[in-house]
Amino acid sequence: MKVINENTITDAALEQMSSTPNPRLRTIMASLVRHLHDFAREVDLTPEEWLEGIRFLTAVGQKCTPHRQEFILLSDTLGMSSLVNALHDKRATGPATKSSLLGPFYRQDAPEMRLGDSIIAHSKGTEVVFYGRVLDGNGRGIPNALIQIWEPDETGNYDLQKHDPSVMDLRGCFHADKEGRYHLRGLCPLGYMIPMDGPVGDMIRAQKRHGYRPAHVHFVISAPGCRELVTALYIAGDEHIDSDTVFGVSESLIVSVNRNDPASPLPNLPSIRYDFRLTAEQGAGISGRVGADPAQLGQKAG
Ligand code: BEZ
Ligand code: FE
Repeated sequence: MKVINENTITDAALEQMSSTPNPRLRTIMASLVRHLHDFAREVDLTPEEWLEGIRFLTAVGQKCTPHRQEFILLSDTLGMSSLVNALHDKRATGPATKSSLLGPFYRQDAPEMRLGDSIIAHSKGTEVVFYGRVLDGNGRGIPNALIQIWEPDETGNYDLQKHDPSVMDLRGCFHADKEGRYHLRGLCPLGYMIPMDGPVGDMIRAQKRHGYRPAHVHFVISAPGCRELVTALYIAGDEHIDSDTVFGVSESLIVSVNRNDPASPLPNLPSIRYDFRLTAEQGAGISGRVGADPAQLGQKAG
């Protein structure tokens, strides 16, 4: 009979799990258990503290609905989503735009629109033109690339956070032209506080963090033969640009609003110009998404 104590428990658990046939699952679970046990030993975790952790995770799960994803919010606020994005970016085989957070407000079925259309359905605020090109690793335009965009309204809320979350606003799907060019209209991006009315908000307050994201706009860009890009553009000068609560900002994703841009396809409006670069696909079905439409995440896979 093996003696189970604080030093032998890790090997005992690893030994039982070593029969896992899937080699990647075996590696991931073994590492997770090793780190989890080391964490408990390092902080000398008490039963009350562990139960509090279990209570917290239970509350995170209970907060999730088809319109709310508290686990994604937790992953984002712990820096885990950005870490997984950075590892994903490191695996790119060529030059590519950096990833940024998908966040909890992506929606699968945003309306199809035509180049030049506005994604503003119900909101008010300063209109801007987003324009540029979608390029491959060699700097050539990708014809017909799919551009999905979403942003919050002038009060800092996404449509999913509104009274009737089935009403879509400030999101759309566009196809680039044959040279990979795109232009579309939306609201000038604003900053906002992440949802604070759940257990993640309690955690943020307990840590005395401000809870704000700098002004930004989200994109998912894809094209056949290319790796999907999940990213966001951040507005220079925002007061939270260096202290994003969810660690999404990279220097190469910071843009300025240009109020006098003769090259803009709609020069009467302020404009934000950005060329996105996609790297070649590295195996079918490799997604850059840390997250999903919350309505999809609640459903059992397969
Ligand atoms: C967002 O940018 O939509 C977002 C990302 C992480 C947490 C909350 C919101
Ligand atoms: Fe956002």
